[in-house]
Amino acid sequence: MKSINGFSQKRQSMIQQFSHIAPLQNYLAEKINEGQEFSFVPTMGNLHEGHLSLARESLKDSRNSFCVFSIFVNPKQFGPKEDFHNYPSTIEEDIVKLSSLSKEMKKDILLFYPDNQQEIFPEGFATSITVDGLSKILCGKQRKNHFKGVTTVVYRLLILLKPHRTYMGLKDFQQQFLIKKMVKDLLLSSEIISLPTIREKSNLAMSSRNNYLTPQEREGEALCLYNTMLRVKHALENSSLSLKEKISLFNDEKEKTLGPHSKWQYLELLDSETLKNITSKTKTAQIFGAYLCGKTRLIDNMTIYLNP
Ligand code: PAF
Repeated sequence: MKSINGFSQKRQSMIQQFSHIAPLQNYLAEKINEGQEFSFVPTMGNLHEGHLSLARESLKDSRNSFCVFSIFVNPKQFGPKEDFHNYPSTIEEDIVKLSSLSKEMKKDILLFYPDNQQEIFPEGFATSITVDGLSKILCGKQRKNHFKGVTTVVYRLLILLKPHRTYMGLKDFQQQFLIKKMVKDLLLSSEIISLPTIREKSNLAMSSRNNYLTPQEREGEALCLYNTMLRVKHALENSSLSLKEKISLFNDEKEKTLGPHSKWQYLELLDSETLKNITSKTKTAQIFGAYLCGKTRLIDNMTIYLNP
């Protein structure tokens, strides 16, 4: 265990760094014995306000005495042609951000930053967790084993750390949906709390992969994802249309958007509570989009109130 900037001696709010699981588990056991509860924010680092807002909101909850924040770039969720080896790593900057958040919130943040993969997946680890069906739709269509990798690593982290509450962003709607399902099906004890997408001023959803965009793409073409979804949302929230008309309006939009040379990977409208096709029982729907801006794959989603 390392305390950053020596804050630990003075018992001010601080960030403590753990690169091994065993000392972190010992520390957590002591705190739990004292009756403390804690939040957990799993990330892959390269922190932006989206990640920090999860930790901040968790620390606003008086039930959470402190927050465990993990940074682990999980190899299992990347495909062979994806950016695992180039995934942006900015650990020094990340530590500074977490440190100032801990001071702002006057609560401790424990950074779990494993220095090798074996801390999470020991030699010979051979099990995986898959949520059937729902991990094959939307992003799961293009990224074949992505969600299997995500649910497996999150399962491991939840079992190793046993947090009372885990905070996830709605930007990755499908991810948090699958994790909630896994937690329910496998009787895990952590409560999964989903928080709204944090956007840049331009409305681009914050993502570590936005760093791959050129400044021109970031202020221009990348916004086409948000703007298209917003336009469809406004059209569908028109209460004078029947459900059938809304579905056919959406299908027309989808056909126009996903033309043969389109940079869109998908544009879908699904029931927010089931991730299945919308029906007359659907209260809120979710529009989902994935768009290739240059080489950068962007995803976003928006809630649609079908009966406003
Ligand atoms: O959203 C992410 O950053 C990752 O998918 C997660 C949840 C940390 C698992 O590696």
